[in-house]
Amino acid sequence: MSSEVKRQFLEFEPVIFKDRKGDEVTIRQYHHEEDRERLISMYESFSPDNRCLGLPPSTRIAIENWIDYLAENGFAIVAELGGKLIGHCVIVPTADWKKVDLSIFVHQDYQDRGIGQALLRHIIDYAKRMGFDGIMLVTERDNHRAVHVYKKFGFRIVNPEHEFDMYLQLK
Ligand SMILES: CC(C)(COP(=O)(O)OP(=O)(O)OC[C@H]1O[C@@H](n2cnc3c(N)ncnc32)[C@H](O)[C@@H]1OP(=O)(O)O)[C@@H](O)C(=O)NCCC(=O)NCCS
Repeated sequence: MSSEVKRQFLEFEPVIFKDRKGDEVTIRQYHHEEDRERLISMYESFSPDNRCLGLPPSTRIAIENWIDYLAENGFAIVAELGGKLIGHCVIVPTADWKKVDLSIFVHQDYQDRGIGQALLRHIIDYAKRMGFDGIMLVTERDNHRAVHVYKKFGFRIVNPEHEFDMYLQLK
């Protein structure tokens, strides 16, 4: 009989915050069954100029495969405004569940309003609560806005060879 303990994600309590435009944005847990279609809509209208390392994918089928994979293997929070999903931040644990890989996307119509930083703040708190050792991510070296935001939260560049591999130690 396998002695492996089934690992589970904790619940995330929704929060409301006022973005820099004064809109009340809800940050809450992503629920795949109810939210899948709306997340696909967000990514189908995501500007190709805003893609990072080929993500989000550009076709509907590839978007579906990608978010189904993330939902199967990770934990996500979303930013919601007026019934629309406008931001998505997901962590996927490594095989040993010691660290997580992070991805974050805010729709281009809502960027630079503090929403990305709100998502990051909450996912970092959540990853700490879950007891993970650290958060890894990869970004493009000329993605200045993303690198600026990650550095604000203490992420360090650990491998600047091609893309930027960045890491935030939590323990
Ligand atoms: C990167 C991203 C998640 C940030 O989310 P956001 O909601 O736009 O970010 P925020 O509004 O919280 O913060 C933006 C910050 O970047 C700064 N910024 C904006 N443009 C910048 C630029 N060209 N260079 C440096 N900093 C920049 C803003 O001044 C702000 O910083 P401040 O709070 O210190 O003033 C979002 O822009 C995004 O989804 N981009 C496209 C996809 C992507 O690159 N995702 C990362 C995957 S690797």
